Amino acid sequence: MVESRGQALQRRRAVYRRRRAWAAVIAVVLLALLVFGLYAGLKTWGLLPSGQDAEESEAAELSGSNSDDDLASPAGSSAAAAEPEPEPTPEPEPEPERASDPSWDPDSIHVLVNRQNPFEPVDYAPTDLVVPDVPHYGPEAAMSLRQEPAAALEELIATGRQEGMALGLVSGYRSFDYQFQIYWARHAEVGTEATDLYMSRPGYSEHQTGLAADVISIENPDCMLGECFADTPEGQWVAENAHRFGFIIRYLEDMEHITGYPYEPWHLRYVGVETATEVFELGLTLEKYWEQPAAPDYDDAEPASP
Ligand code: DAL
Ligand code: ZN
Repeated sequence: MVESRGQALQRRRAVYRRRRAWAAVIAVVLLALLVFGLYAGLKTWGLLPSGQDAEESEAAELSGSNSDDDLASPAGSSAAAAEPEPEPTPEPEPEPERASDPSWDPDSIHVLVNRQNPFEPVDYAPTDLVVPDVPHYGPEAAMSLRQEPAAALEELIATGRQEGMALGLVSGYRSFDYQFQIYWARHAEVGTEATDLYMSRPGYSEHQTGLAADVISIENPDCMLGECFADTPEGQWVAENAHRFGFIIRYLEDMEHITGYPYEPWHLRYVGVETATEVFELGLTLEKYWEQPAAPDYDDAEPASP
């Protein structure tokens, strides 16, 4: 059958439309492939932010932090900010300043010697003993002091004299051997308890430091080494002024439970002006001032036999 001219024209138009439709589909596919390839390439070369990077920068913006902070604080600052403020640690009370601390070096002017703290070595002897230039009324063997307290005692007695006081020295440095001698001589007469009351066992006496001095009121010899020394003008003057020269009254009244000895208003112990002034103003025993245990008793009920 021969197609008419109109039919041929319609067929060619239909073929032409189909071709155009296919061309359009192919063009769309090619365009899509091009766009996808371009996107993938840019992302691979790092020219586009990844989804994770974008999330992180958004989170950083919200929290106001940066990545360095996050490294230093893994919990994240926004989480830390939400936590309650920690309680501030209270400042420790400052320790009261003391002019000195106790020492167990027998050469120190701050050595602590008592019934719980004997000398180490037990027969320690100072090397700078001198006889002070003061009135003295005792055995030569017990008339020296270490240089520093000797000079201080000279000044104390000279100053007292200017103020009408007649003071003298009756006992200064006592060696271990000397203390041994007088302790056992008395012990032979009255036994352990009565001897221990006022007299230290050898190796436990402050007199062995060369820093202790027993003083008397020259006008009141009856009160020598007696509690009534405290009632003499000299005893009262010493109680009020000894600290100015670096001495303290070592065995205070009613402090036997701490020092181990009854009141000895005549027994002066050199500790230096600063410490003596503080101890005097605080009204403390040396044990309390230096925050050391009380020393009322020896460890042994009986002294080491001669
Ligand atoms: N009278 C003092 C305590 C002594 O013997 O050392
Ligand atoms: Zn004494």
